[in-house]
Amino acid sequence: MIVCTSREEISSAVEQIRKQGRSLGFIPTMGALHQGHISLVKKSIADNDCTAVSVFVNPTQFNNPNDLKTYPRTVDADIALLEATGADIAFIPSVETMYPEGLENVTESYDFGAIGAVMEGAARPGHFNGVGIVVHRLFDLVKPDRAYFGMKDFQQIAIIREMVRQRNINIEIIPCPIVREADGLALSSRNTRLNEEQRKQAVQISQTLFKAAELTNKYSLPELKSFVINTVNSVPLLDVEYFEIVDGYTMQPVNSWNEATWIVGCITVNVGDVRLIDNITLKQ
Ligand code: PAJ
Repeated sequence: MIVCTSREEISSAVEQIRKQGRSLGFIPTMGALHQGHISLVKKSIADNDCTAVSVFVNPTQFNNPNDLKTYPRTVDADIALLEATGADIAFIPSVETMYPEGLENVTESYDFGAIGAVMEGAARPGHFNGVGIVVHRLFDLVKPDRAYFGMKDFQQIAIIREMVRQRNINIEIIPCPIVREADGLALSSRNTRLNEEQRKQAVQISQTLFKAAELTNKYSLPELKSFVINTVNSVPLLDVEYFEIVDGYTMQPVNSWNEATWIVGCITVNVGDVRLIDNITLKQ
C-alpha cells in the first residue's frame, strides 16, 4: 500500500492507475477506522482494480469546536488496518494540504436545497457545506470511478448525490449497509468516547429502531414517532436531539404511510457529550 500525504503524491499515484487503464474505487473517511469503514473498503476492493482511502478529520464540517478537538485520531492503526484489508492507496493529507488558502479563506458554498435544510442540516449549521467542500476537493484529487458511502450517514449520501448532480461529476456513488455491533449499536468512531455505562445504554437506540420497524402495521407515523422519542428518552443517559420519519429520496418529513414509497426513520441522540446517529428503513 502506498501512503500519500501531499497533492503531488496522490496525483501521481492516481495517474499511474489511469495510465494502466485500471478502475479506481474511493472511500473518504475521517479515520479512527472500524469495521463499518472496512466494509466499504472491502466492497470497493471487490468492485474495482484499485482502492484508495482518505483519512482526514475535516475541520470545515465541524460546527462544534469541542467535537473537532475530541474526535478520535488513530492514524498508525488506520494505516495498519487499511494495509491488512488490501487497500492500494492511503491518502492522509494535512489541513494545509487540503486547505492551502487557509481555513479562514475557504469560500466555496453549496446549496443543497430542501435535502440539506432538515435533520443534520438544521442541527449542524454549515456541516453539509463542509462535507461538500472536502468531498469535492478529494474527488478532484483522487478522480475515482466509484465512491463508497455508508448508509449510517443517511442524509450525507443524499447530499453527495445532489452535489454530484449539481456539479456534473462523473463518479458513481455507491451506498453501503450499516455495520452494527453484535447487540445492534451502529459502529461509529465516536463510540470509543462512551464510558461503560453510556455504552450499555446506547444499545437502546438501535433496539428501539428495530422495535419501530416491527410496529409499522400497528402505528400511524405520528404515533411511531412519539413511541421512538419517548422510549429512547426514557433511558436515563440518552437524550434524543431529533427523530424524523422522512422520504428516503427527498429527506422531507412524511406524516402518513402512503406519502412516500421509501420511508426512513433517522435519529440523533446525545449520550453525555457524544452525539450518535442511526436510522432504519420503515417502508420500502
Ligand atoms: P466518517 O464518519 O469517518 O465515515 C466515513 C464513511 O464510513 C461514511 O461514508 C460513513 O457513512 C461510513 N460509516 C461509518 N460508520 C459506518 C457503519 N457503522 N456502517 C457503514 N458505514 C459506516 O462520513 C465521514 O467520515 C465524513 O463526513 C466524510 C464523508 C469523510 C467527509 O469528511
